[in-house]
Formats: sequence, C-alpha cells, structure tokens
Amino acid sequence: MRLAALLATASLALSTSTLTRDVVILGGGSTGTYAAVQLRSQDKTVALVEKKDKLGGHAETIYLPDDQYVNYGIEGFFNNDLTKTYFSQLDVDYEALLPGSLLTNYVDFRTGKPALPGDGILDTITGLLLYRAAIAQFDSLSTGAYYLPDPIPEVLLRPFHEFVSAHALQGALTLIFEFAENVGDLLNTPLLYVIQNFGIPQIDALLNGGYIRPKNGTDTLFNKAATYIGPENIFSSTTAISTSRNETGVEVLVQNTNGTQTLIRANSLLITFPPTLSNLAFLDLSSTEQSLFSKWTHMQYYAATITNTGLPDGINIANVNPDNQPGSLPLPPFQWELEYSGVPGYFMTKIVAPANFTAEDAKQLIVDNLRSMRDAGTYDTTQDPEIAAFASHSPETLMVGVEEIREGFYDKLHGLQGKRSTYYTGYTWCTDYSTPLWNFTDAVVGMMHL
Ligand SMILES: Cc1cc2nc3c(=O)[nH]c(=O)nc-3n(C[C@H](O)[C@H](O)[C@H](O)COP(=O)(O)OP(=O)(O)OC[C@H]3O[C@@H](n4cnc5c(N)ncnc54)[C@H](O)[C@@H]3O)c2cc1C
Ligand SMILES: *[C@@H]1O[C@H](CO)[C@@H](O)[C@H](O)[C@H]1NC(C)=O
Ligand SMILES: *[C@@H]1O[C@H](CO)[C@@H](O)[C@H](O)[C@H]1NC(C)=O
Ligand SMILES: *[C@@H]1O[C@H](CO)[C@@H](O)[C@H](O)[C@H]1NC(C)=O
Ligand SMILES: *[C@@H]1O[C@H](CO)[C@@H](O)[C@H](O)[C@H]1NC(C)=O
Ligand SMILES: *[C@@H]1O[C@H](CO)[C@@H](O)[C@H](O)[C@H]1NC(C)=O
Repeated sequence: MRLAALLATASLALSTSTLTRDVVILGGGSTGTYAAVQLRSQDKTVALVEKKDKLGGHAETIYLPDDQYVNYGIEGFFNNDLTKTYFSQLDVDYEALLPGSLLTNYVDFRTGKPALPGDGILDTITGLLLYRAAIAQFDSLSTGAYYLPDPIPEVLLRPFHEFVSAHALQGALTLIFEFAENVGDLLNTPLLYVIQNFGIPQIDALLNGGYIRPKNGTDTLFNKAATYIGPENIFSSTTAISTSRNETGVEVLVQNTNGTQTLIRANSLLITFPPTLSNLAFLDLSSTEQSLFSKWTHMQYYAATITNTGLPDGINIANVNPDNQPGSLPLPPFQWELEYSGVPGYFMTKIVAPANFTAEDAKQLIVDNLRSMRDAGTYDTTQDPEIAAFASHSPETLMVGVEEIREGFYDKLHGLQGKRSTYYTGYTWCTDYSTPLWNFTDAVVGMMHL
C-alpha cells in the first residue's frame, strides 16, 4: 500500500509538468472565455481548462456549403456597450440578428395536428411592457444575478400561474415562453426562476437595440478569443482530476484525454460550469460546498439542426398543448419549436425534458414528432429526416426548492466567493444570457486578489 502510493507519487513527479499562473479557469464556455480575455487584457496570466476540444460551451455553429452556417446554440448577444466593447477587443465583426422567419404555425406536437395558439396573444411590445411593469418591483434582480431581496417576498416563491392571474399576463405567456421555455413547466415554476430566465436584462435588450451576432457564426467569437488568450494558455480536451486549495492559492491537477497530466499552481481558481456534485467530483469540497451543491435540480436541454424534413422553408412551427391553460404551453418532455434557420432546408429545434431523458430519447422525439405531423396530414414530412448536428446542453436550468431559497440558499451560495481562493461564475449564479453573465463575471474577476 505504502510502496504503491510512493511509486504513484514518483511517476507523477516524472511525467507531470508544473505551471504557475495568476488564475486557473475551469470551463471554456462563454464566461470562462470572457474571464480569460479580460485577465489577459490586464496582463494577468491564465490557464483555461476546457473539457471539449474547443472553446464555446453552449455556442455551436454548423458550417454548410456556400459560406452558409447555422448557429444552433447561442444565436446572438445583447446589442449594448458591453457586447460591442468585447467584440472590438477581439476584432469581431458583427451584424444584427434577424429571425429566419416571422411566420409561425401552431401545432400540437402530441397529435401532429394544427392547433390554436394561447388565447389573447398580445403583440410583442405590449406583452413586454406589461410583463416588465409587473416584475420591475424586484429591483435587486435587475442585473440578472441571483441577488434576492431581503426579506424574500413570498410571491417570488409561488408558482408563476398565480402571478399571471394577478397581473393579467395571459396574453404575454407565448412571448415569455419564447425565452423561459428551458424552465419546463412554466406555469408551475416559482416566479423567481421565470424572472431569472426572462427578466429585466433580456426585456431591455429587446426594447433597446435587439441582438447582434458575429459575422460567420458564433464560433468566430471563440476562435478570435482563443487567438487572443494564446494557445499555450488553453488546455482543451482536458479536465481537472484533483485540487488542493487554501487561502493563499490553489493547485489543480489536470489531465488531457491523451493521458498527459499538468499541475497548475495559481493564486485563484475560477469555476464556470454548473457546480453540481457530479461535475465537481474532483474538487476538495468543504462541507458548505458539499451541502449547497447537493441541492440542485435541473432540466435536460438538447439542441439540434435538422434537414431533409420535407417541411416548407420559411416557417416556424411552435408546439402548443391546448390542455394546459392558460397559454397552451407544452409540458416536459417537449420539443419546443421547429425554427426555420434562414438556410433553405435547415431547421433548428430544442428539447426540454426531465433529468432522466437521454440524448437518444431526444433524437427519437424529434423523429416521432415529424412522423405524427405526416400521419395527421399536417405537413408532407419525409420518412427519413436527418439530424445534421446535435448537442446536449445539460444540465440546464439549475434550481433549488423554495424551502431552500427561503432559508437563504442564494446568500450562502454567494458567500462561497473567494473562500479558499475559489471563485464562481456561469449560469447558476446569474441569468442564463451571455451579456449579463459577462457583466457578472467582471465583478467576480474584480474580487480576486491577483
Ligand atoms: C441551445 C442554447 C441556446 C442559447 N442561446 C443563447 C443566445 O442566443 N444568447 C445568449 O446570450 N445566451 C444563450 N444561451 C444561454 C447560454 O447558456 C449562455 O449565454 C452562456 O453560454 C453560458 O455560459 P457559461 O460559461 O455559463 O456556460 P457554458 O457555455 O455551458 O460553459 C461551460 C463550459 O464548461 C465546460 N465544462 C463542463 N464541465 C467541465 C469540466 N469538468 N472541466 C472542464 N470544462 C468543463 C463545458 O464543456 C463548457 O464549455 C443559450 C443556451 C442554450 C443551451
Ligand atoms: C453590471 O454589474 C454591476 C455590478 O457589478 C451593476 O452595478 C450594473 O448595474 C450591471 N450592469 C447591468 C447592465 O446590469
Ligand atoms: C467561416 O468560418 C468557417 C469556420 O471557421 C471557415 O471555414 C470559413 O472559411 C469562414 N467563411 C468566411 C466567409 O469567412
Ligand atoms: C497553502 O498551500 C500551499 C501548497 O499548496 C502551501 O505551500 C502553503 O503553505 C499553504 N498555505 C497555508 C496558509 O496553509
Ligand atoms: C497530449 O496533450 C497535450 C496537451 O495537453 C500535448 O501537449 C501533448 O503533445 C499531447 N501528447 C500526445 C502524445 O498526443
Ligand atoms: C422519467 O421518470 C418519470 C417519472 O418521474 C417517468 O414517468 C418517465 O417514464 C421516465 N422517462 C424516461 C425516459 O425514462
């Protein structure tokens, strides 16, 4: 036993190279990449560790012939100063994000038959203003971070349908669902999580300038960022396998899929992916971290690009469930929408489902739904649609029970920042949109002792 341990240590010492950096960042999605760029711009040294073979996280672009592409993950960013400053830092050209089509048909995907949308649908601006007025009272949530009012108003913990009735928001439900569909059963989700998925930051972006996107695909942003950060600072296809943390610094042992290990010593550690116990199995967890991170529930979220469907180009097909009132919104597991991509023949779609719904289940649901539209005579869909690209974004929409929230879960969560030189960002800490996440990340980076 003792000998084996010694030998293991010795072989580690032989094959492991050691690096020293100001900050080691785990996760090269939107927030981890942004943090690395900002730290580099402040002349700090970083190591950015990403599990996949490229940066981007929820950003996914499929490139097609003739310079065409489909962004089937992140489609766009708020058209505001923060986004534009970041794009100019990286020399990213951009353009307005416009929908592939404005025409939407409504179909009950359970039967494949045409159906009516929810009652009394308001036009976008009216719906936005009505909903904004109703939620503006929760001032502390306005940046998108999970900074809860103190005391926590009970209404934030009640199911959203009560708030809908109290503020006559029935006509805005279709719109709210366009942004907060990832919560799953919208009407029975606590108001807090609806606001956190579609709140003041998203509404104000829609009202003031809309969205922009990098030219030639969201991937372009991450390719430019990788160049800026420097390939020698990026560890892709790599995960952390153990850590040792104290108030003066951290040591993170990482391993490439090819078996190569590197020991990174840093003043600070920034964790950017959802802090679930399974994601953090490598971490020397404190009892507080262990206890908080065991509380999450989440949704499964899958995104795909499909082709050879037989669907007519230029329409979106929204899934409605007339049995679920008000709003006729589908219930999990559901395929959210078939969205025309703007590229002839290509549609984008998303699946929102409970935790036990696998990628194979999701692919099957896409095929089954197209088949039922054909069987019902609604569209002349083909026998053999092709899933051109598919990605799992799970775990998505991390939530905790209302009892936990009432007992101060989010205060305790934010209280972890800086403990044992460890900091956190990402969509469990702030609303799941890149621009407000970058703003939150700036604040977290500002807290670090570098
Ligand atoms: C389909 C889809 C579409 C979206 N569209 C938009 C949009 O149009 N606009 C918008 O602003 N937001 C959009 N979002 C929200 C999006 O999640 C956020 O904008 C943002 O990408 C979240 O960034 P993040 O860094 O928090 O997480 P992620 O982007 O998920 O980054 C986390 C990274 O950590 C990596 N990772 C995980 N585990 C490990 C590990 N153990 N070790 C190392 N690395 C690890 C992951 O591979 C990933 O790259 C969309 C989300 C989805 C799912
Ligand atoms: C950005 O974050 C800061 C706090 O760090 C906050 O004061 C500011 O309002 C945020 N900006 C936006 C646009 O939310
Ligand atoms: C767009 O990006 C893709 C992938 O990086 C690249 O292959 C292609 O040449 C680019 N197209 C243009 C027009 O820049
Ligand atoms: C923190 O850990 C490092 C090694 O990882 C060690 O050298 C240092 O003495 C520790 N500091 C404290 C205050 O425990
Ligand atoms: C393994 O990956 C590392 C990057 O982490 C790289 O430097 C090294 O060359 C790779 N080794 C082999 C044998 O491919
Ligand atoms: C998931 O669990 C639910 C019960 O919570 C069950 O009804 C359902 O069949 C399960 N789905 C799958 C795909 O296993």
